Amino acid sequence: MSNVSKILIIDDEPRMCDSLRVLLSSQGYYTQTGYNGKEAIECLARDRFDLVLLDIVMPDMTGHQIMDYINSQSPETLIIVMTGHASVDSAVESLRRGAYDYLRKPFDFEQLERRVKNALNQNKLKREYDLINGKLELTEKRYQYLVNASPDIIYTLNHEGKFTFISGAVESLLGYKSEQLVGKHYASIVFEEDIDKAENVFNERRTGARATTNVELRLKCSENHNTPDSCLTVELKAMGMYDRPVDQKDKKFIGTYGVARDVSNRKRLEAQLLQAQKMKAIGTLAGGIAHDFNNLLMGIEGRTSLMFLDIDSDHPHFAHVKGIEDMVARGAGLTKQLLGFARGGKYEVKPVDLNELIKKCSEMFGRTKKEVRVHGKYQQEIWTVEVDRTQIEQVLLNFYVNAWQAMPGGGDLYIQTENARLEEGDVRPFGAMTGNYVKVSVTDTGVGMDEETQRRIFEPFFTTKEMGRGTGLGLASSYGIIKNHGGIINVYSKKGKGATFNIYLPAADTLIGEQNPEEREKEIHEGHETVLLVDDEDVIIDIGQEMLTAAGYDVLLARGGKEAVEVYKKNKDKVDIIVLDMIMPDMGGGDVYDTLREINPDIKVLLSSGYSISGQATEILERGCNGFIQKPFNMSQLSQGIRKILDN
Ligand SMILES: Nc1ncnc2c1ncn2[C@@H]1O[C@H](COP(=O)(O)OP(=O)(O)OP(=O)(O)O)[C@@H](O)[C@H]1O
Ligand SMILES: [Mg+2]
Repeated sequence: MSNVSKILIIDDEPRMCDSLRVLLSSQGYYTQTGYNGKEAIECLARDRFDLVLLDIVMPDMTGHQIMDYINSQSPETLIIVMTGHASVDSAVESLRRGAYDYLRKPFDFEQLERRVKNALNQNKLKREYDLINGKLELTEKRYQYLVNASPDIIYTLNHEGKFTFISGAVESLLGYKSEQLVGKHYASIVFEEDIDKAENVFNERRTGARATTNVELRLKCSENHNTPDSCLTVELKAMGMYDRPVDQKDKKFIGTYGVARDVSNRKRLEAQLLQAQKMKAIGTLAGGIAHDFNNLLMGIEGRTSLMFLDIDSDHPHFAHVKGIEDMVARGAGLTKQLLGFARGGKYEVKPVDLNELIKKCSEMFGRTKKEVRVHGKYQQEIWTVEVDRTQIEQVLLNFYVNAWQAMPGGGDLYIQTENARLEEGDVRPFGAMTGNYVKVSVTDTGVGMDEETQRRIFEPFFTTKEMGRGTGLGLASSYGIIKNHGGIINVYSKKGKGATFNIYLPAADTLIGEQNPEEREKEIHEGHETVLLVDDEDVIIDIGQEMLTAAGYDVLLARGGKEAVEVYKKNKDKVDIIVLDMIMPDMGGGDVYDTLREINPDIKVLLSSGYSISGQATEILERGCNGFIQKPFNMSQLSQGIRKILDN
């Protein structure tokens, strides 16, 4: 029934009323009648009608009053007024009040039928139109929701480049409110250095020069936005908007629309990955060279120790030999930097009071570089850290020397220590653990660095210094060292405004015990036992044999792991101690140790390596190996290492 149109006929002439009703019912309409105003209102209150045929002149109420009632109660109901022969005025008045049409009496039925049909058709169309409109509105609301819920910034610009719309993401990403940006030029949120780039994109769209491409841009964050960076890198996709389809000529540019996606995380990860890969590759390379170089130094060191046995301080060559020893020490320092970076061992980890270490180190530096004023600010009750002293000294010295070089006319150096707690957000980019750290900052008032330089300073061999002045290893090895301590290293600087280097070292639970200053005893401890010296390097075998002989020992030699096992089997009863290289091509020190111990569980072994004590060496020591000696070693170190084990 609901598809049948309902018509109400209101006329005070019952005959007219009834005949209209009969006629319209026969056409399939549902009809009702009202013979006067009162009845009409009752019908209208009971039911809804699509159409009312209304006689304008009635005794109890005027047609216009009924019309007003209909308009107020059901405005979608159509009204066709039926007027008397002469009253043009009232017809016009009815139309003004919202009647759809009018019929002047007398009219024939055909006429009536046509008008009614026409009116109802129009109404149906209008309703469908409204329905579609409503749906469109709904669809548009959904799109609006999606646009605002999107993590990307979605925007439209007018022909001048001013925002006409910008989605909600701009608030979380950059800290602006959308309303605040509407009407502003896009350049107001583009990072200064990228404004030209943004302008290019906009102009390309305006002139239709090129199809859309992905452009990377940096956007400025609002000042009160809570992020570490002042900029956000986005990938921009933008299209031109025209007043007619793009392929048509004479189209007018009315603006652009586009999407800006936050790619800063991706960029950061990419950069980190690249950096890590680069560091690893160069580390392998540098490590290899350093290893060989270390063995050469070992040879030189050994030979000078031997020469010292025969010459006194009044010997004409004494100063030269001493000079060679000093050079070797410096060379060893260099390989240590390289190895520190490459394999990143912590050679000797002890609980350390960083305040004390830093004070010593900076006093020494201050004494040698008078033009730099050193200021210290130290945390009281500083947490203990477990570090390799010499490595951390090396890091500080690298900072100091760089700072000194960055302040050619002299300047100030501020050193500060601080206990700090680092949370997830602080440590995540560096792959470190959350927890307590001791922070050390070194700030200078020197020339500073631009961003490009800052990005690269931790790369090995990156230097801005002239040939011969810098090798570019200082910060690379510092980076390696801090990383291997489970710490964080970073830099803040602006060109012309000085630089700050920060390191964070994990705080340890231990308290500092008695610190016995590592005074290297120079004495040579002699002995007459038999030593089996195992090493795959000829240099080490040659020099080691001579050193050991000079110290009074009997020496057996093995030039590799397998040979070591053979030699030991044959001389089991003779050998008192084995000096064992850790890394050998045929059979590593670890395997040799395990095999020999099966033959004799009480075997005594001094492990030797150019690499750190951490990692492999520690494992072997934990399996019971008696001691460790770092290459390059000199005679006193070797002889003391051996005596310590034999006398135990
Ligand atoms: N405090 C600083 N102020 C300004 N620039 C610095 C500072 N520290 C480091 N740099 C920059 O970082 C680069 C790399 O430093 P790094 O210590 O790794 O190598 P280097 O000093 O050039 O050479 P090396 O330390 O091996 O002698 C320097 O060349 C310099 O451009
Ligand atoms: Mg340096």
